[in-house]
Formats: sequence, structure tokens, C-alpha cells
Amino acid sequence: MAEFHIIGKTSLQGEIPVRGAKNSALKAIAAAPLFARPFSIKNVPAIEDVSRMTDLVEDLGVQTAMEGERILSLDGSTIKGFALKKEIAERLRASIVLTGPLLARQKKVSSPYPGGCVIGRRPIDIFIEGFRSLGAKVKVSKRGFEAQAAKLTGTRFTFRKISVTATETLMMAASLAHGKTVLINAALEPEIQHLAKFLNGSGAHIKGAGTPVIEITGTGGKLLKAKAPFVTIPDRVETGSFLVLGALLGNPLTITGCNPVHVEVPIAMLKAAGVPIERGDSSLTVRHPKKILAFNVSTREYPGFPTDLQAPFAVLLTQARGQSTVSETVFDGRLGYIEDLNRMGARITPGDPHRILIDGPSRFRGREIESPDLRAGLAFVIAALTAQGKSVVRNIYQIDRGYEKIEERLQAVGAKITRHET
Ligand code: EPU
Repeated sequence: MAEFHIIGKTSLQGEIPVRGAKNSALKAIAAAPLFARPFSIKNVPAIEDVSRMTDLVEDLGVQTAMEGERILSLDGSTIKGFALKKEIAERLRASIVLTGPLLARQKKVSSPYPGGCVIGRRPIDIFIEGFRSLGAKVKVSKRGFEAQAAKLTGTRFTFRKISVTATETLMMAASLAHGKTVLINAALEPEIQHLAKFLNGSGAHIKGAGTPVIEITGTGGKLLKAKAPFVTIPDRVETGSFLVLGALLGNPLTITGCNPVHVEVPIAMLKAAGVPIERGDSSLTVRHPKKILAFNVSTREYPGFPTDLQAPFAVLLTQARGQSTVSETVFDGRLGYIEDLNRMGARITPGDPHRILIDGPSRFRGREIESPDLRAGLAFVIAALTAQGKSVVRNIYQIDRGYEKIEERLQAVGAKITRHET
């Protein structure tokens, strides 16, 4: 078990690089069964979830190798299995995305209920509906599900709820299907559009990714062949979290290797609250203003305000003048961190199960806190960096799942943060 020791209240200056997006790289790994030949993924973040996802595909016979810094190669030609290993799949939600490509390739897939962050109910009913719509026979049990289809057939499928991973999963399964699939009310996240572009460059026929209607003409079982590597897009959650860090402590802080277009709404909110942000093509420079004005946040699917930035923004709002509200509309259990922030000195009160009220500004004092999940874990690190005195952040496995060596990048801009094995 490892923990971070953090001494707060030092201003941060210099450049902090953004790594490749976890939720982009994981989906490219999940695509491996669609490919007849090896392909590589560049800008892969060195994080726990990438290692687990790599273990998961290796267990199915995919050969993987690191070919230099942040380059992962995958060879799906040797794939043999169809059952996701329970112990691994239960550790990350993205494991379920693999079920689409596996079903298309192996004509059969079995999966336990995927794990991941404990942020409320995370059902898989939409995946099951989608597979059935593509012509698969699906058996659901207490342990998970098994799907079989000698051949997947193009379909017209409407998501009754927008889902990022279900959109990716069905889009990939339909890529090898027979005939045309139309996915309606699809998620719009940039990771999906980027994945579709890569698949198209490899022989798939996907139109409309990044819009609510995606049309896929299946290859009729013909496997894909990559002509170029998949280059992971910059992590927009990391970018947004560093924006919060800069707004609280930047003197100034320059975020490099990011794509500002993917964080338009968080940028607009911060600017309206009085945070100065200078925008480059792939960088953002942010400075701590004399005062931050309170504002309201409501999470939405992309291009709205991302749920993954909800906890870091709540930390920011504890330092804003006046009352703010934060409403979580995507997940039903993602506000569980407020007690710990209150122990640090925040004044957060629950409104209803999906809403909190934050009165600010508050003075934070260092405390011992435990990361509840990946995104709230980084929010706690940010809170500790703004607090007077020393904090200890425990359960940092959660943070390592999604952020590559975060302490080293923070140290480089002046943060007093160290990792300790216990
Ligand atoms: N939902 C269902 N049934 C389903 C699937 C989803 O009811 O079959 C519901 C969920 O319970 C939730 C809503 O639909 O209320 C939206 O969930 P979605 O499926 O879009 O979330 P996800 O695909 O499981 C991905 C990211 C999350 C991110 C969300 C929203 C991955 C691996 N995970 O999750 O990222 O918060 O989209 O943007 O891509 C993280 O990285 O820390 C993380 C939680």
C-alpha cells in the first residue's frame, strides 16, 4: 500500500504535461480482437488500468509488448479465448468494451459484471440489449453474461440512455457485422470519434461518430488491418484537473500537450468565475486570481460538463466566494467525498442525493484522507495542496489507476508531494 504525503500552500509554476487519455487508450486495447495483424498504440499512459487491460487481452491470447516509451504493440492474430478473466475484469469498467470485439471475432463471449470505480449503480443492460439487437443470443446470470452469435447482423438500435462504453462496444461489434447498423442517441465523447477514425483507417466503415447517429457498414466478418498506429488523444480529465490546480495555485501553471477544444465548457466556467486562462493550440496557461466567484456545476454528457471533473471542481468551489451548487446527473453515487473535504475545513452540505451546496471560501487544514475513487482521489490531492500543513492521502492505488506518476509531474512544478510505501 502506498500513500502521498503532501505539504500544502506552495504556489505552482512551470509546465505540467498531460498524458494520453486512459479512456482512449483502454478502448484501443479492447479493439485488438478486431485485427488480423499487429498494431501499436502510441502515447499510452503508464497507469494501472492500462496494465490490467493489457493483462486481460493477454489472457485471451493477444500478444502484447512495450516497444519503447509509451508505445504498446498488440497482436490479435493469436487470439484463442472468449471468456474474460473474472479477477481482472472485475477491476475495471472498461473491460466490458472488450466484449463487443470478442463477440464479433470469436462468435462467443462471456464476461463477469465489470468493476471499476464505486460511483453508484453501473448496470450493463444496454450492452445486452445491443448485442441481442445485433442478433446474438445472450444469457444473463448472477455471475455475468454469455453471448453467442454465429454471425452478427446489422441493426437499428436506440440507446434509451446515453452510454460511452456501450456506444464504443456496439460500434466495434457492428464494424465486423453483416449489413448496416444505425446507432441512435450515441454518446459524443471525443474518445469515440477518435476510435472510429482509427478503425476506419484500418478498414472499417463508420460514419457519424461524434454525432448522435452513427452508421456502420459491417465488413461481413473481414478483420481489420491497421495502416498506422493509434495515437492516444490527450487526457481531458487530466487537463481539466490541472486547470483547477492552476486556478488555485498557479503562478502561473502551463498545461502542455493538451487539446483545449476538449475542455471548452470547463474553460468557459473558469473564465466566468474570474480565472485568467491563456489558450494555445495544445497548451493552457492558468493563474490563481485574487478572487474566484462562486458558480453552479451540473454534469452532462459531452460536450457538457464532464462528471469526471465534478470532484476537482467541487474542491475549487470551496475556495470561491459565495454559494455554489454541484449537481451530479450522470452517476448516482459520486458525491461521497464531501465528508472528507468538510474534515479539511470545507463547508459543503448535501442538498438532495444528487446535489451539494458549497459555501466558500474556506480555509483548509491538512488531514489524513483516503481516496474513494480515481477522480475524487486526485481531487483530494488538489485539496491537500491548498491546505495549511501536512496531509496524508491513502489508497493511492486508485490514483495510480488513472494518472501516470502524478507526484513526479507535480513535484516538477513546485508541489511538496512524496510517495511512501507503507
Ligand atoms: N448505464 C445504464 N446501463 C448500461 C450502461 C450505462 O444504465 O448498460 C447508465 C450508467 O449507470 C450511468 C449512465 O448510463 O448512469 C452513463 O454511464 P456510461 O455508460 O456513459 O459510463 P461508462 O461508459 O461506464 C465512461 C467512463 C467513465 C465516465 C463516463 C461518463 C470509461 C471506461 N469510463 O463510463 O470514466 O465517467 O463514461 O463520461 O470510459 C473514469 O475514468 O474515472 C470514469 C468513471
